[in-house]
Amino acid sequence: MEMEKLVSLCKRRGFLFQSSEIYGGINGFWDYGPLGVELKRNIKAAWWKDMVTAHDELEAANGAPSTHEMTGLDCTIIMHPQVWKCSGHFDLFCDLMVDCKETNKRYRFDQVRGRWAAAKGKRIFVTTVAEIDEEEAELTRRAMKAFKLRAKDADQLTWDGEAVSLDTLDDTSEVLAPDAKEVGTLTDPREFNLMFKTIVGAMGTEEDASFLRPETAQGIFVNFKNVVDSTRVKIPFGIAQIGKSFRNEITPRNFTFRSREFEQMEIEFFCHPDTSADWYKYWRDRRFAWYQELGLAGQRLQLRDHEPDELSHYSTGTADIEYAFPFLPAGEYGELEGIAHRGDFDLRSHMEGKLDPNSCPLEVERNEKGKPKYKGSGRDLTYRDPVSNEKFTPHVIEPSAGADRATLAFLCEAYTEDEQPDEKGEMQSRVVMKFHPRIAPIKAAVFPLVKKDGMPEIAKDIYRALKKEFPAFYDEGGAVGRRYRRQDEVGTPYCITVDGETLTNQTVTIRDRDTLEQWRVKIDDVVEEISGRVS
Ligand code: GAP
Repeated sequence: MEMEKLVSLCKRRGFLFQSSEIYGGINGFWDYGPLGVELKRNIKAAWWKDMVTAHDELEAANGAPSTHEMTGLDCTIIMHPQVWKCSGHFDLFCDLMVDCKETNKRYRFDQVRGRWAAAKGKRIFVTTVAEIDEEEAELTRRAMKAFKLRAKDADQLTWDGEAVSLDTLDDTSEVLAPDAKEVGTLTDPREFNLMFKTIVGAMGTEEDASFLRPETAQGIFVNFKNVVDSTRVKIPFGIAQIGKSFRNEITPRNFTFRSREFEQMEIEFFCHPDTSADWYKYWRDRRFAWYQELGLAGQRLQLRDHEPDELSHYSTGTADIEYAFPFLPAGEYGELEGIAHRGDFDLRSHMEGKLDPNSCPLEVERNEKGKPKYKGSGRDLTYRDPVSNEKFTPHVIEPSAGADRATLAFLCEAYTEDEQPDEKGEMQSRVVMKFHPRIAPIKAAVFPLVKKDGMPEIAKDIYRALKKEFPAFYDEGGAVGRRYRRQDEVGTPYCITVDGETLTNQTVTIRDRDTLEQWRVKIDDVVEEISGRVS
């Protein structure tokens, strides 16, 4: 599937719009349109139901090590600045970036890639942030210009070696920046903190600076004790949260994949250190199965365990659930969700102060006077088991998903083009969004075959009855085949048609979007029939 086709459908049919589009848009921000908002709400609702409210119906079948409880939270986006110091985000949540002095553009250091070009006894490293293969002609054109070669001298230019990332080169290399004409215009790489800063209160001083949260997880950690004290949850239990997070990404790109404002669906699962390895395995497999259950069933979805040398010392495992998004080069996957074994790192950081994630065993990072660099809350965030009376700092398993990345993956997976015969038996090409019925934005559409003989009135009654249960759509405009195709394109799983036979035996036809199978159902049974299929 070509990504342009999906992007155009998303705009045309109201799934996604560029934010502030009438003012030229703002990079890294996206609005969900009337259908997009339903799709994303359905994905978040499916996650909440399957992970939180109905998780116990599924846990045994899914191999959970024991029964467990799940509960939720909805925390603020702006939190006490100390949260971000103790979590490590204040010091460590950085990307390296380089600026171009010629074009004033900024790039993520690791995303600038290029190849060595040689001519006239000189070598320069010619770069791009796009795919090197697709840019080949453009790279050649720019290299020729940089070497001041005329078209007839093109054979003097030679390319050397495979494409590599700029961050693998030494700093004496002669680099042609991605959009520059002159060589040597890139600055040295500098650290850039990805948190959005804001000022709280009217005084407007640096003292009042705080940050928009870059993850929802910290709200859960700092409320761990509140949840234990205010509810009857016992370890093992999980706290779930869905909410907006913000990262000032240097190069937002690939549609909504890397945005500056996005939504996360995160669980922090608290358990005894002795059982944490089993719980890690459970969540890793459970989360992978969840995407499969909702339709990401093919080869494009994969579970990738991090190599042991990629893990922090406190972690016994981290895995990513990845999807082969069509905008990525063949064979490459993009992260949908990470499942991390975080040990007791986060609770200890909020008790004791910022811990150094690279030291082993865990140590409080200290300033030159030997004092902890950032003071923790000083609160006791340990847990006392009510049965054994054992006191311990729980270990945490964190399945952390992106609601927007999941939505994008479901959109990509759903997009299908096929050919189907129309009413006259002639083959017509159609675009069909094959969403799983649970996440489809509109569950059913109702059509009167013609706008007369009382058919619209019957169809509207059915539509009103359906609308009480889930989003439905009424359409009486144009040939019925065209109405079907309009619904196929937005992924409506069932279309209900009121026709001549309805007037004599009170039945309607229901058509299945994917199989095109049609069957008749009594008007009084339509709501039950569709409800059973979409829940
Ligand atoms: N609390 C752990 C955490 O935040 P992460 O891997 O940085 O981990 C988790 O983020 C998920 O959030 C990612 O797997 C992705 O789905 C989503 N996400 C992260 N950055 C994003 C961005 N800039 N745009 C869209 N989604 C993003």
